[in-house]
Amino acid sequence: MWEIIEKLDKLRAQARLGGGQERIDAQHRRGKLTARERLEALMDPDSFEELDMFVEHQCTDFGMDQAHVAGDGVVTGYGSVHGRRVFAFSQDFTVFGGSLSETNARKICKIMDMAVNVGAPVIGLNDSGGARIQEGVASLAGYAEVFQRNVLASGVIPQISAIMGPCAGGAVYSPALTDFILMVKDTSYMFLTGPDVVKTVTHEEVSAEQLGGAITHTTRSGVADFAFDNDLVLLKQLRRLLSFLPSSNRVPPPRIATGDDPRRQDFSFDTLIPNDPQRPYDMKELVEKVVDNGDFLEVQAEYAKNIIVGFARLDGHTVGLVANQPLVLAGCLDIASSVKAARFVRFCDCFQIPLVTFVDVPGFLPGTQQELGGIIKQGAKLLFAFAEATVPKVTVITRKAYGGAYDVMSSKHLRGDLNYAWPHAEIAVMGPKGAAEIIFRNEIRAAQDPKAKLQEVTAAYAANFANPFIAARKGFIDDVIMPHDTRWRVIRGLQTMTDKQRAMPWKKHDNMPL
Ligand code: HXC
Repeated sequence: MWEIIEKLDKLRAQARLGGGQERIDAQHRRGKLTARERLEALMDPDSFEELDMFVEHQCTDFGMDQAHVAGDGVVTGYGSVHGRRVFAFSQDFTVFGGSLSETNARKICKIMDMAVNVGAPVIGLNDSGGARIQEGVASLAGYAEVFQRNVLASGVIPQISAIMGPCAGGAVYSPALTDFILMVKDTSYMFLTGPDVVKTVTHEEVSAEQLGGAITHTTRSGVADFAFDNDLVLLKQLRRLLSFLPSSNRVPPPRIATGDDPRRQDFSFDTLIPNDPQRPYDMKELVEKVVDNGDFLEVQAEYAKNIIVGFARLDGHTVGLVANQPLVLAGCLDIASSVKAARFVRFCDCFQIPLVTFVDVPGFLPGTQQELGGIIKQGAKLLFAFAEATVPKVTVITRKAYGGAYDVMSSKHLRGDLNYAWPHAEIAVMGPKGAAEIIFRNEIRAAQDPKAKLQEVTAAYAANFANPFIAARKGFIDDVIMPHDTRWRVIRGLQTMTDKQRAMPWKKHDNMPL
């Protein structure tokens, strides 16, 4: 009996060495953790249970029958994060470059199926040379099996991808199908075709970092949501992200006692809005001061910065925050910000996360670049996302809510549950100057001093129409609230809407403007 136990210990120790000490050292020299070290850092202490440790590939071509490593380049299993069950796979770059084989894919699919069956998140730690070249189409089939499961699991369990090394070719599509992508700066990249192929086909010279590094994808392409300095920081923040999320679409997100008084007033809000309506202010200040203990996890913080999205807690409950940022492009909606926010709103709606929206939007960004880029369809994505969302929706208009953007930003008309405005709010079809120029065109032209006339009629228009009371009289705004009471009014609204139920008409699925 002891012999068998000793043998098991030996086999386990061998499997844990993956591709061997030399390759582990090489991984460390690059500033990267190994697959198992990453899982240790991700999970609660001693909670990770590995599955399929002894699985080996079945390839016999190219001398592969002589090259077997237990586990075959991916570590899979389950454990807990903040006491809640999660499933994870971690590609082991020390074994055939973490490349995906048929059996390796089967291991990943096994834990994905288990995660869906029990309703727990799946986390993928990616560090791989892509398809196992020796296996050819069997590897491609393995990828497709994973893709199919990503799609079926979408909206059922949270799926999170960490890119912690190479991720190229079609391999990028599994992360792309998941809910969030986190990348490590300098050591990870994602692209469909690498710099060499780019050079051959388009004659462009570009580095891997420029083409698909963490900065590129979090500032320019919008493919990734977060960039972190190293593996450990990423894994810590991944745990933080999970703390906001429910385990599946069958259960609400966890409530965490934050100790922050829900009735806390903040009198700095009363002077947050500058007297000059053209002057910007930092919407993030409002977001951070409203939420529990200022704990706001911003998603895509460096991309499309004219809109802010992210998770926080209000009275301990997770909320998804969407807010225009007047500091960037005056808070206008454009293609990038519409798509960014639409995806976030849809995630929240999938997973029972209420939406809190702060509005200060002068409209959609004008220009040929936007029109030719398809702002009509791209902007419609955000409209669609807010309109279809059935989670509790509380909206606060802090200043401008003009034109179509007023409608889009979780307005009453898109089934907003509680829509508030600050006394400074300007809810109108457009800004006073633009409106006055159109309505009083003839009077302005006929005036002796057209400039002075424009000023006069603009001021008159602003006095009469640039306020929240016309919308409030029509019931489009449920109340005009004191800025310093914003936190409590939003929390009360969410408490009131807690058991909200809204049915959707039967359909196979919608046809959102993609
Ligand atoms: C098998 C692979 C491999 C792969 C790397 N290795 N990629 N083995 N299949 N795809 C092995 C190497 O042979 C090497 O083995 C070890 O992993 C480490 O690789 P190195 O090249 O030494 O490491 P590095 O210099 O860091 O370069 C990493 C790399 C490079 C950039 C990822 O290995 C690379 O370019 N690999 C090929 C990438 C590729 O073309 N993949 C297929 C893409 S097509 P030893 O034994 O020496 O340690 C694809 C389609 C997917 O993925 C489609 C899905 C729909």
